[in-house]
Amino acid sequence: MREKFIPLSVPNFSGNEKEYVNDAVISEWVSTGGSKVTEFEQAIAEYTRMPRAVACNSGTSGLHLALLAAGVGAGDEVLAPTLTFIAAVNPIRYVGAQPVFIGCGSSMCMCPTLAEEWLSENTEQQDGRCINKRTGAQVKAAMVVHVFGNMAGMPRFVEVCKKYNLTLIEDATEALGTVYTDGPYKGKMAGTIGDIGIYSFNGNKIITTGAGGMIVSNHPDWLEHAKHL
Ligand SMILES: Cc1ncc(COP(=O)(O)O)c(C=O)c1O
Repeated sequence: MREKFIPLSVPNFSGNEKEYVNDAVISEWVSTGGSKVTEFEQAIAEYTRMPRAVACNSGTSGLHLALLAAGVGAGDEVLAPTLTFIAAVNPIRYVGAQPVFIGCGSSMCMCPTLAEEWLSENTEQQDGRCINKRTGAQVKAAMVVHVFGNMAGMPRFVEVCKKYNLTLIEDATEALGTVYTDGPYKGKMAGTIGDIGIYSFNGNKIITTGAGGMIVSNHPDWLEHAKHL
C-alpha cells in the first residue's frame, strides 16, 4: 500500500490569490505599505487574539527586529536550540550577540529543563541582569523555536525566563495556528505567550505571501519600535 504523502512545502493557491495580486498591481501598491498589508496585519492580530501585529518582509527580518526591539545587542548572549532552521540563529549574530546552544527534547524544541540547568550552572544575577560567569556577558534572551509547529514547553520557559530575567522570544515561523488545548495557556497560540513572537509567510509555510513575516507582542512599545525600524 502506498503511504499518503503530505508535502512539506507546496503552497495551495486555490482561493482569491490571483485576484488580490491583480488588485495590488492595479492599485500600484506593491511596496511595504498599502491596504492589503494593513488588512493582513489586522487579520493576523484578530486570529492570534493579539492587540496588534506588525508585518515585515520575512520571518528572518521579523526575528532581527524582535531582537532589536528587545534591546539585544553586541556582546549579549541568547539561548538558542540545537535543532532548528538556521534563520532562527542568524539574526542573533546580525545584532552582534552570541548564541548559546541548548539541547532539544522529544518535541524537537529547545528543552526548558536543559535551559534551566545551563543557566543555574553558568550564570549569576547581578542587579537584575543574568551574567555568564565564564564570559562576563549578559544573557539577555531565549529564542524558543516551535519546530515543525510543535509547541515548545512554554509554561516552563515562561517560569525560567522570569526567574533568570530573560526576554522570551518565540520563533513561531513554522507554527501559525498551534494552540494549547489545556494547561495554564489553554487557548493561547504559539507566538503569543512570550514577550514577542514571529510568523513567516515564506513559500514553505502554513500560509504564504511568497515572502513575508509578522510580529506580535505583549509590549506595544516594542511593536511600535519594530514598525518604525
Ligand atoms: C524556524 C525558522 N525560523 C526562521 C525562518 C525564517 O523565515 P523566512 O524564510 O520567512 O525568513 C524559518 C523559515 O524559513 C524557519 O523555519
